[in-house]
Amino acid sequence: MSTTDLPALNATLNAISAVLLLCGLWAIRGGRKALHRKFMIGALAASAIFLVTYLWYHALHGSTLFLREGPVRVVYFAILISHIILAAINLPLVVLTAYRAFIGDFERHKKIARVTWVMWMYVSVTGVLVYLMLYRWFPGKA
Ligand code: HEM
Repeated sequence: MSTTDLPALNATLNAISAVLLLCGLWAIRGGRKALHRKFMIGALAASAIFLVTYLWYHALHGSTLFLREGPVRVVYFAILISHIILAAINLPLVVLTAYRAFIGDFERHKKIARVTWVMWMYVSVTGVLVYLMLYRWFPGKA
């Protein structure tokens, strides 16, 4: 595997997080707490690996330019900027939500879990979209 494969790996990890988040929600809606725990730990692992491979890629490679002009450029940057801002806000929220669950404080876990879940899902899905727009649908240059 080379550095050029990392964006596809990162997008795949985002997609895996999104699927595991859906599974985790489905599990807790059905009252299956142990299963919810497993799916959420899986989502945490996928996002933690993503964070490492994302930082690795950007340390080695820097940024890739989005070259397309017109409305698609506005859409791309709206998605990218909202993705970056919410990812930064979401990171401490995910840690706090998981922490509250791990110490067994489920009342307080529940208080922030929905917001964390929705934000995490948005960040994961837009992560895949940014990859598709930048590398697949409207390829830029290094
Ligand atoms: C950051 C990761 C996590 C997120 C985003 C998350 C999300 C959620 C959501 C959306 C709910 C439903 C809340 C509601 O009904 O309003 C929930 C409930 C619950 N979660 Fe998590 N969860 C996470 C991690 C965990 C972990 C690691 C555990 C176990 C150690 C866990 C245990 C529970 C339990 C037991 C409930 C049910 C609480 C109750 O109904 O009293 N969660 N979680």
